[in-house]
Amino acid sequence: MKEHTIQLNLSPERKPKPQSADLGFGKIFTDHMFIMDYTEGQGWHDPRIVPYQPLSLDPSCMIFHYGQSVFEGLKAYLTEDNRVLLFRPERNFQRLNRSNERLCIPAVDVDMAIEALKQLISVEKEWIPKWEGTSLYIRPFIIATEPFLGVKPSSRYQFIIILSPVGLYYKEGIKPVKILVENEFVRAVAGGTGEAKTAGNYASSLKAQEIADRKEYSQVLWLDGVEKKYIEEVGSMNVFFKINGEVVTPALNGSILDGVTRNSVIQLLKHWGMTVTERRISMEELREAHQAGQLEEAFGTGTAAIISPIGELLWKDEKMIINDGVTGPVSEKLFHTITSIQGGKEPDPFNWTMEVEQCIEVK
Ligand code: COI
Repeated sequence: MKEHTIQLNLSPERKPKPQSADLGFGKIFTDHMFIMDYTEGQGWHDPRIVPYQPLSLDPSCMIFHYGQSVFEGLKAYLTEDNRVLLFRPERNFQRLNRSNERLCIPAVDVDMAIEALKQLISVEKEWIPKWEGTSLYIRPFIIATEPFLGVKPSSRYQFIIILSPVGLYYKEGIKPVKILVENEFVRAVAGGTGEAKTAGNYASSLKAQEIADRKEYSQVLWLDGVEKKYIEEVGSMNVFFKINGEVVTPALNGSILDGVTRNSVIQLLKHWGMTVTERRISMEELREAHQAGQLEEAFGTGTAAIISPIGELLWKDEKMIINDGVTGPVSEKLFHTITSIQGGKEPDPFNWTMEVEQCIEVK
């Protein structure tokens, strides 16, 4: 898809840009969005950048009834010398297509999606916040728009990208959070949709999260859906543990999301000469490591929070305090290194960042 095939319809009005203290996560949206339609027999068509606006959809659209939808999350950063960097966007759009495949949604062209995103960001460059720890969160998503109540894959879809200037995802930031190990509800099972980024996975996680909130825990630690013995994810993030000098993370088993930050953390740790193992980890093993004084660090990884250290795990009646409840050196170094690469402050040895050239001049 060539640049000129994306129609540009700029908004005559511009909203005021937020101040740092207003940011939070995912509450404020920019002036424009990207949208493209899919119609069976025609494929994806009519890519366009239009003013940010409500969607007008028939109440019978399949998205509202059977949840056929996928999404992604990535970020754009403004560097000190005013360049715009994306972090590994191709991995997000490749994963979007893996989610599409699982949800019977037609694939999008990865190069075209990146081009569309670059043009949208080019239009919205002024919205990228410049303060430490802030960025422009990018939410691409696809919804089933055929008006029909039968259960089958939709024959129509919309692919939309919206942008939101953000600060911290968790109010704790890089401070350790308290995590409740979830023994009743499960997030996903192998063969289900756990490795797809689809809305239903997040809807079905809310109940456990609500219970954790009531007990004043930040997130839940998800166990496997069959034996409820093996660790899978934490909240909406992947999870890592440092046990006796070795870093371990649950192996991708069909029910765990293949996180971009997860992959980046594994590469960085190996680059630093540390041992990283992707394998099954049981709660029993974690408890034994804790009792032996070998559970040195634990942290979640995700695009929103980057690194979220875990200071406490509650499993049944047993409370495990990790690294005295303070951020460990590996978590700290990973957070610092990844955010510095993302913001163009440190060399990028893996070529993870992609610069967005200013391709559209906006008055
Ligand atoms: C992330 O950690 O990046 C997520 O997936 C959270 C998102 C659902 C807000």
